[in-house]
Amino acid sequence: MNDSMKEHWNEIYEALDVDELTWYEEIPAPSIKLLSRCKINKDEPVLDVGAGASTFVDYLVDQGFSNIIAADISEIALGKLKERLGNEKARTVKWIVDDITQPVHIRNLKDVAVWHDRAVLHFLLEKRQQDMYLSTLKKVIKKGGYVIIAAFSLKGAKKCTGLDVKNYDPNMLAEFLGEDFSLLEYFDYTYHMPSGQPRPYVYTLFQRNQL
Ligand SMILES: C[S@@+](CC[C@H](N)C(=O)[O-])C[C@H]1O[C@@H](n2cnc3c(N)ncnc32)[C@H](O)[C@@H]1O
Repeated sequence: MNDSMKEHWNEIYEALDVDELTWYEEIPAPSIKLLSRCKINKDEPVLDVGAGASTFVDYLVDQGFSNIIAADISEIALGKLKERLGNEKARTVKWIVDDITQPVHIRNLKDVAVWHDRAVLHFLLEKRQQDMYLSTLKKVIKKGGYVIIAAFSLKGAKKCTGLDVKNYDPNMLAEFLGEDFSLLEYFDYTYHMPSGQPRPYVYTLFQRNQL
């Protein structure tokens, strides 16, 4: 576990209400759109990597997905998400506090049908971290499974929460995932922060090849 990163994120989630975060979405519409393209059953594992306190998890619960996994380096973030969901809904989610660059628990998952990452990969600047992210993704996702990655686009911000980010376009993400994954859909999406300022993202949907 990268303790300084954990501390960084815990401090942010401690300092701000969830709806003040510069990535807060009341309705995670672009993720929902891409999820709707995934041909999966609601009892298959859906993993939100770096879920934070995301409303995407609320959406999955409310839609009846029964095998949801929310993973994040910050236990404070996941605590806030649990609290918002309430005990009954929170019990239906598997909670994992883990670092995707040094994963212990996430790597034990199996047959993940959807890997969802909004605004996490772009924080991984070192090749070693990106390699671990990718090898973990490949280890846990099933053949024919889906990968949704949303990152700051090439036109997007160069920093978030004081941390540098790597900006992406769909080709870069396709190259990153490699030949085992096919790009099914992508779009640019301008998110507006609570301040009203625009934040350009790119959203991508990939499918792992069946063979
Ligand atoms: C910009 S926030 C996005 C949160 C969430 N995906 C959303 O859309 O609301 C980035 C999230 O990634 C988490 N994170 C950052 N580095 C991580 C790592 N190495 N392993 C796991 N989670 C990480 C942070 O704690 C934070 O919740």
